Amino acid sequence: MNMQYSIVGSGPVGRTLAGLFARTGIDVQVANSRGPESLAAITAELGQHVIPATLEQALEADVIFLAVGFMRVQSVAIKLPDWAGKIVVDVTNALQPAEAQETKLRGLLSSEINADFLSGAKLVKAFNHLPVQRLGTNPPISGQRQAVFVSSNDADASTTIAALAARLGFAPIELGRLNQGGAALHVLSGSQGGLLFQNLVKLD
Ligand SMILES: NC(=O)c1ccc[n+]([C@@H]2O[C@H](COP(=O)([O-])OP(=O)(O)OC[C@H]3O[C@@H](n4cnc5c(N)ncnc54)[C@H](OP(=O)(O)O)[C@@H]3O)[C@@H](O)[C@H]2O)c1
Repeated sequence: MNMQYSIVGSGPVGRTLAGLFARTGIDVQVANSRGPESLAAITAELGQHVIPATLEQALEADVIFLAVGFMRVQSVAIKLPDWAGKIVVDVTNALQPAEAQETKLRGLLSSEINADFLSGAKLVKAFNHLPVQRLGTNPPISGQRQAVFVSSNDADASTTIAALAARLGFAPIELGRLNQGGAALHVLSGSQGGLLFQNLVKLD
């Protein structure tokens, strides 16, 4: 099946993700809250594979990267009454104590809270563990690929995003369910999971 991809958010993270698609030659729609006209500079920089879209258009994709602030997820979630069938890649981090406080994380993973908003979606936590300046920027050394961790309660969705990560040039490492291996990708009770900010490479 020919999957359609989109990125919601055109800040540093959305832009970097779009660049990964562009360099691989995979079409991706990008949307933000200000509309497609505001994305002209990104298209000019990244080229034809990056397609400016309205939020509504972006939400028609099969795989949607959520690259918005953690506290903005609900504002995106309400745009679709039913997320069934969608794979949502949760790139958000609830890193600020104020964010964690406000939503009362209290031991819940940010992705579990997001999954509640995105009713029916297959949520995959991935591409969130590195400072964005590091994502996809490792020197191209033969036989070494930057690790990207993938976690989901839906095994098929995890496999799909791992395969996409491999196409985008990474070494995907599947961690299993969110509350198991995936906890290492989250902020929990004010402390960060052990894989956050770890810039690791896999030797092929
Ligand atoms: N910075 C990092 O190193 C890093 C690394 C990994 C993960 N993260 C996480 O990635 C996420 C994005 O980070 P960022 O630094 O790129 O954030 P950012 O600069 O705040 O950009 C957020 C983007 O989301 C868009 N947005 C917000 N609400 C929206 C809505 N309802 N509909 C459509 N678009 C909406 C904004 O649109 P406008 O442009 O129109 O305002 C903006 O383009 C955060 O959750 C962050 O914690 C960050």
